[in-house]
Amino acid sequence: MTQGAKTLLKMSGITKRFPGVIALSGVSLSLAPGEVLALMGENGAGKSTLMKVLGGAQSPDEGSIEVDGRAATLSSVRVAKSLGIALIHQELMLAPNLDIAANIFLGSEPGRGPLLRPLPAREMKQKAAALLSRVGLTASPSTQVSLLTAGQMQMVEIAKALALNARIIIMDEPTSSLTAGESEHLFQIIGQLKADGIGIIYISHRMEEVMVLADRITVLRDGKYVGDLTRAEATHDKVVAMMVGRELSHHYFPEKVERPPAEARLVVDHLLVQGAPLGVSFHALRGEILGFAGLLGAARTELMEALFGVTPALSGSMTLDGKPYMPARARDAIQAGVYLAPEDRKRHGLVLPMSVAQNTSLPNVSSYSRFGYLNREQERRVAGAEVERLHTKTPSIEQRVVNLSGGNQQKVVLGKWLAMTPRVLILDEPTRGIDVGAKAEIYRHMAGLAEQGITILMVSSDMEEIMGMSDRVVVMHERRIRGVLVRSELSQERIAKLMTGTREEGGQAA
Ligand SMILES: Nc1ncnc2c1ncn2[C@@H]1O[C@H](COP(=O)(O)OP(=O)(O)OP(=O)(O)O)[C@@H](O)[C@H]1O
Ligand SMILES: [Mg+2]
Repeated sequence: MTQGAKTLLKMSGITKRFPGVIALSGVSLSLAPGEVLALMGENGAGKSTLMKVLGGAQSPDEGSIEVDGRAATLSSVRVAKSLGIALIHQELMLAPNLDIAANIFLGSEPGRGPLLRPLPAREMKQKAAALLSRVGLTASPSTQVSLLTAGQMQMVEIAKALALNARIIIMDEPTSSLTAGESEHLFQIIGQLKADGIGIIYISHRMEEVMVLADRITVLRDGKYVGDLTRAEATHDKVVAMMVGRELSHHYFPEKVERPPAEARLVVDHLLVQGAPLGVSFHALRGEILGFAGLLGAARTELMEALFGVTPALSGSMTLDGKPYMPARARDAIQAGVYLAPEDRKRHGLVLPMSVAQNTSLPNVSSYSRFGYLNREQERRVAGAEVERLHTKTPSIEQRVVNLSGGNQQKVVLGKWLAMTPRVLILDEPTRGIDVGAKAEIYRHMAGLAEQGITILMVSSDMEEIMGMSDRVVVMHERRIRGVLVRSELSQERIAKLMTGTREEGGQAA
């Protein structure tokens, strides 16, 4: 990028150290007005840290930053905001109990007059409404944020950035919890922001969307700057090679082997769950990977929670290996050999202040302890093996999970479930936020578990993953099962049709 008026932002030689970790080492990056720059790299490469530095949330140990050609010291979030830099975090940070308008102006209450007296509520609502229409959100500004979908919350975050007159908007994995439709909407909004001359830094592990959106890609590896690619230069393989430092096979889904027909393991008959699945029936075989596809509101997660006893079913019946199975709480499910790795791992899957080793052994504590004492040796061995297998980036297994990058936290949770040998393993969005290299490992591992006879129920919004991993696919739409497709019937079009509720002939009954 050349010097002068065309550079909106320039970061040079940024270094950031944490105890035992060099998160960033001499990283540089630049951004022009109206440019979408994708920032890519494996889990723990330093993407979020670099953006926290830019957003004023973390101060670098070394390096300099220029905004509009002028040196800037981004000593706090407030200073960064005053320079027009808005950071939308990997974990959205809205206040759930406040309404949309209050959230938009939180921390930047617009004032009026020389004393900057706060705007009356009515005016604030009007301003909020104007911003909402700019991001295409139809909800009323008085709606409480906790009632919004992830996609709508993302739009509120963007409206919040616009309220600041942000000229640089940073989005850290914005689509990781969005549905396909919501992502489409986000991309449109990004197009508009671009046209308004706003510079956007976009972090994502999803190659397809980066290829569509980005004007340029900056790649980081192990806290270091690897290089830049323009949209024209970038190919999937080139970017991946830069990220992982080696060629990675494009076909990372394990070969599907024809297996002799297996016995049914889990049979679900007319299961009815409050506010969720309406009388669903299906079965899963021993050693089968059964995919669950569907859009938001399909109630896949709710179904899984019912199978796991979190929200007990109201009616219907289930059997597990031929015996009646009706868990009233998670403990019953675990005792019966049914485990669930939840979608919202932050909330359900991890104890953030505890170490990687402790988190790995948590759900399985009984099998590590003898005579009531925790077998530390065993705990460490399993944790070490999982960290190695998934290439979890952590200075040691004693590191507190809260200090790991988003994707590495995911690996810790997933590792702990994969280390167990239940009868049925339920994985809800197993690879969300996880980089390409580790995905391949997870897939291999899942296939290995299935080979041992473990039944895997996999909820996923990633169509490639559903297609690549499932032996059969259950497609849900609005709380019902619309079809079950066997491998030979699988096509994206067919799944999409069923997912959106379009009637279709055929498709094997569950
Ligand atoms: N507060 C902290 N204390 C210690 N280490 C940290 C802290 N924050 C980040 N790190 C470490 O810095 C490195 C970079 O983390 P960062 O969150 O920037 O990665 P990332 O590229 O955003 O990864 P992901 O794709 O998983 O979100 C990681 O090794 C992480 O463990
Ligand atoms: Mg991150």
